[in-house]
Amino acid sequence: MMTPEQIFLVQQSWEKVLPISQTAGELFYDRLTELVPQLENLIDSDHVEQIKKLMTSFNLVINSLNDPDMLKPVLELLGQRHVGYGVIETDYSAASDAFCWALKHSLGKDFTDEVQAAWLEVFHFLSDNMDTSKHSYIN
Ligand code: HEM
Repeated sequence: MMTPEQIFLVQQSWEKVLPISQTAGELFYDRLTELVPQLENLIDSDHVEQIKKLMTSFNLVINSLNDPDMLKPVLELLGQRHVGYGVIETDYSAASDAFCWALKHSLGKDFTDEVQAAWLEVFHFLSDNMDTSKHSYIN
């Protein structure tokens, strides 16, 4: 799990992304569909609303990194809905790459190796809890 220092780095860099979250979100989607072209079929052509939803949920995740147990059930349900949207296991690592790419372009020199390592932890946490192939259900 993340160290307090990594949580701080993620929260600090997120503060810098927030004012440009729409642009950062556009970069993310462009890069994601470049990496996985099939996802273009899932992502709305006018994806302004979708970026807002994504950034709002990131905001919740990042502000709650100190309390991961609170997030787990929320992410598990979100992950189940993503199965319905057609998102598969490997899309999560593509999303991680695309998001780091967007952060690098948005933050420039502030996106240091330490900041990147901290964000990769966030994505491990997201895919561990959203990717339904990684957890078992109580049916
Ligand atoms: C793995 C790559 C991902 C893909 C391809 C993807 C794709 C989608 C699609 C197709 C929708 C439905 C759009 C709609 O009609 O509202 C959606 C909704 C949503 N996504 Fe993602 N998503 C991904 C990852 C994530 C991640 C990592 C988060 C947040 C941590 C997230 C948060 C949301 C939210 C909050 C919604 C709104 C609907 C709901 O709450 O179920 N997505 N996503």
